[in-house]
Amino acid sequence: MSKFLEVENLNVSFPTEDGLVQATNEVSYSVGLGETLAIVGESGSGKSVSNLAVMGLHNAGSTNISGHAWLDLPSGRVDLISAKPEELRALRGKEMAMIFQDPMSALHPFFTVGKQIAEAWHLHNTGSKRAGLARAVEMLDLVGIPDASKRVNDFPHQFSGGMRQRVMIAMSLINNPSLLIADEPTTALDVTVQSQILQLIKDLQKEFNMAVIMITHDLGVVAEVADRVCVMYAGKIVETGGIDDIFYQSVHPYTRGLLASLPRLEQSSLGHRLLAIPGTPPSLINLPNGCSFAPRCAFAEHVGSGLCTSTTPKLELKREDQWARCHLGASDVSRISQLQIGATING
Ligand SMILES: Nc1ncnc2c1ncn2[C@@H]1O[C@H](COP(=O)(O)OP(=O)(O)OP(=O)(O)O)[C@@H](O)[C@H]1O
Ligand code: SF4
Ligand SMILES: [Mg+2]
Repeated sequence: MSKFLEVENLNVSFPTEDGLVQATNEVSYSVGLGETLAIVGESGSGKSVSNLAVMGLHNAGSTNISGHAWLDLPSGRVDLISAKPEELRALRGKEMAMIFQDPMSALHPFFTVGKQIAEAWHLHNTGSKRAGLARAVEMLDLVGIPDASKRVNDFPHQFSGGMRQRVMIAMSLINNPSLLIADEPTTALDVTVQSQILQLIKDLQKEFNMAVIMITHDLGVVAEVADRVCVMYAGKIVETGGIDDIFYQSVHPYTRGLLASLPRLEQSSLGHRLLAIPGTPPSLINLPNGCSFAPRCAFAEHVGSGLCTSTTPKLELKREDQWARCHLGASDVSRISQLQIGATING
């Protein structure tokens, strides 16, 4: 199936006084229309940096970017990485949009939400002020703001956090983009509101057949929305596959560690210890050879010849449509996991 967005071997690095920060390293992922891809990983793993590159939002003067990000438009495929700034401006908002954790950073405090949403429409449409405002009301209504024709005249601070995120979604989707990148859109919200916003994104995706990339550090969010998942660690994709494969038969020890740190009823009742993965991710400056996860990996001792610290694993097919960057095979990981669970219960 042709994908609406195909990111291929994306490298993003930042020259700094301390050295070159390799924020993403040979990152590839894709998402089709109507599909949701979740990108999950700890803080600093490169989730935002890779998607800001797709949107063309990095400062060109202080960022090195290579690779491709193909957008499959009716007029032909466009590579967002080599596109000119004016081409990207024409595509942003119209074909692709991004929402962030903090809507306040994207909304101007001195202008009404109606004016700001209408402005996003005017960027890509010719029409009167009145038409823009009417479209803003329509969008506010669509995203579930009660009494939209009145609220359109309110300022951002007059909305709650959840309602502000709805306003942001209305603004992002006013020109019917086919790709929505949501970067931790619900992290700042309480659990009930979080769930409502995720449901809203799902409903809108269905209605407009959008491709959605959901960036999150929260596997609960992944479970709620994703069709496919990419797990990132230290700038690389370490595992990718369908939602069920990732949740029920993950291959990479890092993914297994993330899942084990999720509080689950059946695990707690068995008395398993629920721990965050010990240790911290490595510095992204001068990453040594070998697997970046090796210093934290409870499986490395089962790999012979010091391979984990000497040789960087490649992203390999481990099961049908499931790829992982680990020297171990899928059956090795399952077997070692069983041994470890046995040791925990007996110990
Ligand atoms: N402008 C920059 N200059 C130098 N380093 C940067 C810059 N922007 C990002 N980085 C570094 O790139 C790495 C990846 O950052 P990124 O923002 O993509 O992480 P993330 O996975 O989105 O994390 P979080 O969950 O905290 O948002 C981090 O180590 C970050 O410090
Ligand atoms: S390659 Fe080695 S260190 Fe890396 S995840 Fe696999 S077992 Fe662990
Ligand atoms: Mg981020």
